[in-house]
Amino acid sequence: MSAIAPIPSLRRSDILRLSHVSRDDVLALFSTARAMKQAPAEFANALKGRSIVMLFEKPSLRTRVTFEIGAARLGAHAVYLDHSDQRLGERETVRDYGHNLERWVDAIVARVFRQTALEELAGASKAPVVNALSDLFHPCQSLADFLTLQEHRGQVAGLRLAYVGDGNNVCHSLMELGAILGCHVTAITPPGREPDAAITRECQTLAVASGARIAVTNELSAVAGHDAVYTDVWVSMGQGAETDQTRQVFTPYQVNSALMSKAGPKALFMHCLPAHRGSEVTDSVMDSKASVVFDQAENRLHAQMALLYHMLRD
Ligand code: CP
Ligand code: NVA
Repeated sequence: MSAIAPIPSLRRSDILRLSHVSRDDVLALFSTARAMKQAPAEFANALKGRSIVMLFEKPSLRTRVTFEIGAARLGAHAVYLDHSDQRLGERETVRDYGHNLERWVDAIVARVFRQTALEELAGASKAPVVNALSDLFHPCQSLADFLTLQEHRGQVAGLRLAYVGDGNNVCHSLMELGAILGCHVTAITPPGREPDAAITRECQTLAVASGARIAVTNELSAVAGHDAVYTDVWVSMGQGAETDQTRQVFTPYQVNSALMSKAGPKALFMHCLPAHRGSEVTDSVMDSKASVVFDQAENRLHAQMALLYHMLRD
């Protein structure tokens, strides 16, 4: 454990998105995550005495469980605050909320509706804030996703990832981290469901240094020749229910066996989960040998443990 070098850019740093983290620092984080996965007992007291608070305005399985268990495995204590009934800022201002929390905890993990609420909270709290999903980004998910790709393919730079579906928070974070790590990302969406144009441009600018190609298209034929195909729900939390109109728009973009064979014989299948089987993905793909979705879910734990460790270590 003592051999693990600190990552200064992560120390006490807000992780609202990943654009400020360098390629080398992400790779160092992955290296810590792999070390934790291999020898968890060595890190049992690494964050002894630290406390984190986890506030969630939306439901969660993976993010909540992996942060709570991850903190416990490092010797830290996690407190869960259920904000599903009462949004941030309703009972007291986000600013006052942040000024309270900073007196008690070492980090705030927050799942919110609005990225701007995270920014406000981070501005009000000396304790760093980690984005556990917002309307715009899901950075912890993309860390686990690229760690998973690294495990399966040896390295991430030069790989080609096709994201098929809604140009949402998960898509944004994949484009952003792909751009940092040198992984080409093609977002293939229905017309009108493209990722945010400003975020796409930011990712393309980030990609100049790594040589990654970040492309957006409505053409399904663009899926050919990719190392992995990734999808997510057609309707994200807080956007209402899947309707007939949603299904009409997205059904051509369903990830099924035919689409996977167009991608290439060795393409992996990825999904952040929860999956809506029969909508964005079929059982035949979810349950296929190409599917690494539960590796991704497992790696949420290791990637976030590494993140908490580098944020809060002595
Ligand atoms: N992938 C993900 O964030 O899952 P949860 O919504 O269950 O946390
Ligand atoms: N895009 C999805 C991801 C869930 C993990 C949502 O925001 O609901």
